[in-house]
Amino acid sequence: MKKYIDFRSDTVTKPTPEMRKAMAEAVVGDDVLGDDPTVKKLEDLAAEMIGKEAALFVPSGTMGNSISIKAWTRELDEVIIEARSHIYNMESTHMTFISRVSPRVLPSQRGAMDPDEVERNIKIPSVHQPRTSLICIENTHNNWGGAVIPLENMKSIKKVADKHGVRIHLDGARIFNASVASGIPVKEYTQTADSVMFCLSKGLSAPIGSMLAGPKDFIDYCRRIRKALGGGMRQVGVIAAPGIVALQSMVDRLKEDHQRAKKLALGIYQLPGIQLNPDEVETDIIIFGLEHSHLSASNFLEKLKRKNILALPVPQGIRFVTNRGIDDHDVEQTITVFANILNS
Ligand SMILES: Cc1ncc(COP(=O)(O)O)c(C=O)c1O
Repeated sequence: MKKYIDFRSDTVTKPTPEMRKAMAEAVVGDDVLGDDPTVKKLEDLAAEMIGKEAALFVPSGTMGNSISIKAWTRELDEVIIEARSHIYNMESTHMTFISRVSPRVLPSQRGAMDPDEVERNIKIPSVHQPRTSLICIENTHNNWGGAVIPLENMKSIKKVADKHGVRIHLDGARIFNASVASGIPVKEYTQTADSVMFCLSKGLSAPIGSMLAGPKDFIDYCRRIRKALGGGMRQVGVIAAPGIVALQSMVDRLKEDHQRAKKLALGIYQLPGIQLNPDEVETDIIIFGLEHSHLSASNFLEKLKRKNILALPVPQGIRFVTNRGIDDHDVEQTITVFANILNS
């Protein structure tokens, strides 16, 4: 029996037996020398599924985002980015540390920036002002509770970007969640961006790795940046192999995580102190505030932990993420534990 019901993230998923078998049997070679057929297969599959010319296997989503920003920008440039975005808030400032560009931070409606406001913030470079070279969009949006950014919003921002010769990078760590939740093919989202990063190691359940996809010459350049950052890996087919299994067999399963997140949201939103609109739970992430008469968020998380339920504190309150390790019974048990603690 498992010890914890672990809602801390969709990154806690363990590889499936099929993934472990694929790892054991992977045909490998030195990938820095271009010899690893399993990595090549993963990169081709990812590029094809995401609708880009080429893709690059990277150790983490953070590295994929940082390489992309480095490749699209020059020092002294500015990057338009949403205020609660993962890149701006949770990636250890690589924009300034690695790319030496400054962020122009914009507010949003649940992660969707206003295209007019984006346009107003595109700078004409001068001796005083930076050049705006890139816009970053995050879909689904982690810190906005897994919100799906509407395709129409992305299309409008793309129009603005094209008009001004600015590139778009999509932090699509969970872009397949957006597609599965909305029913819109993933390529429709990715067409609105010049480059896309997505993670294999979140709801798709692979143990390690993310993909960066875009035009071939861009990816060739990104491969050099990856090497410069120490991300050139050798017989890395052993970790690319479960990534292939993830792409081939785990995308449709994401809907189960979404259904369970909704079920959890509907089960808890009327309990004392919970501040949550269940209509806003669209994918696998639930973020709620807690305004309880005698429990702080950290007390509540402590009490949950004593009942073997794990979740994380976030600036807006508490975050739960459903994932492959959580079944319907876990959700029901969690709702019961919430009720017992919050009503006592
Ligand atoms: C939206 C988003 N982008 C990027 C990342 C970074 O991925 P990694 O943890 O693989 O660096 C995450 C991780 O949680 C994320 O939620």
